[in-house]
Amino acid sequence: METFKGHGMKIVIAGYGYVGKAIEQALLPAHEVTVVDPAYNTNRISDVEYDALIICVATPQSHNGACDMQNVFDCIDESNNKPILIKSTISLEGWQQLKQKYPNKSITFSPEFLRAKTATQDFNKQKAMYFSVDDWEFWSKLFSNTNKNLEFKLAGAEELILAKYFRNSFLATKVTFFNQAYDLCSKLGIDFDKVREYVTDDDRIGESHSYVTEERGFGGHCFPKDTNALVTTANNNEVRLSMLKEAIDYNDFWLRLNQAVKNNKVKDESRNNI
Ligand SMILES: NC(=O)c1ccc[n+]([C@@H]2O[C@H](COP(=O)([O-])OP(=O)(O)OC[C@H]3O[C@@H](n4cnc5c(N)ncnc54)[C@H](O)[C@@H]3O)[C@@H](O)[C@H]2O)c1
Repeated sequence: METFKGHGMKIVIAGYGYVGKAIEQALLPAHEVTVVDPAYNTNRISDVEYDALIICVATPQSHNGACDMQNVFDCIDESNNKPILIKSTISLEGWQQLKQKYPNKSITFSPEFLRAKTATQDFNKQKAMYFSVDDWEFWSKLFSNTNKNLEFKLAGAEELILAKYFRNSFLATKVTFFNQAYDLCSKLGIDFDKVREYVTDDDRIGESHSYVTEERGFGGHCFPKDTNALVTTANNNEVRLSMLKEAIDYNDFWLRLNQAVKNNKVKDESRNNI
């Protein structure tokens, strides 16, 4: 295991999006950070001398719904033998391939739960950071100054990978649930806003993800790809995640309808007759 030098570690952050930027600001100024991201610079991981690598690259949806981890593999291919932390969202299948392909690398997974809009604040205020047991001591020391109440939790990588996907999938399903409540209220001429308010007054339900937007359904950076990745993993294992599948199908229906209205193929009013 790599020994922790305290301050002044040389850290490479690969992927300088919402997650990479939030992590950079948490590590500066105590550590020296080099960013590697083709969208921002021509740095290469293999050209940098560093103590640890943090991978925050995009992991988009592939054509069959699965999580495309090519960017993560590209980073690990270029890495030296120092500890690697994966903060990108990855799949179970990808993690298994990764362990087979790089049996001698020290790779730790840590799911990231920040929200894009409030990335830095979310990262700084997080109550718990979760690490797979692989090299958790090293990483928990590195992030120990993030905030004084931060708790470190350990689990197997597989549990953490699924926990990340199930959190996003639960919230996406909640969005669909309230959109369908909206459909019923609209049909009956009942005020959805009041219904929504009185339902979510129950603390067990809560108001997050209960609002219905003009676009309808869920969007954003992660919910569509993460829900599809989880359903793909379930299908690969012949398990039915039928509620989540319905949430995705309902969402896709709205995406297609919005697109058809935008392309003048369908009248805008048709959105009100669902
Ligand atoms: N945005 C969120 O709210 C959020 C929250 C939690 C987890 N995540 C996950 O974290 C990861 C990053 O998300 P993000 O929102 O920061 O993405 P982003 O799209 O904002 O940024 C990703 C960056 O990775 C770069 N990149 C792609 N391939 C690369 C490579 N081979 N080497 C170096 N850089 C590379 C891209 O140029 C891009 O700048 C994803 O797996 C995402 O699912 C995102």
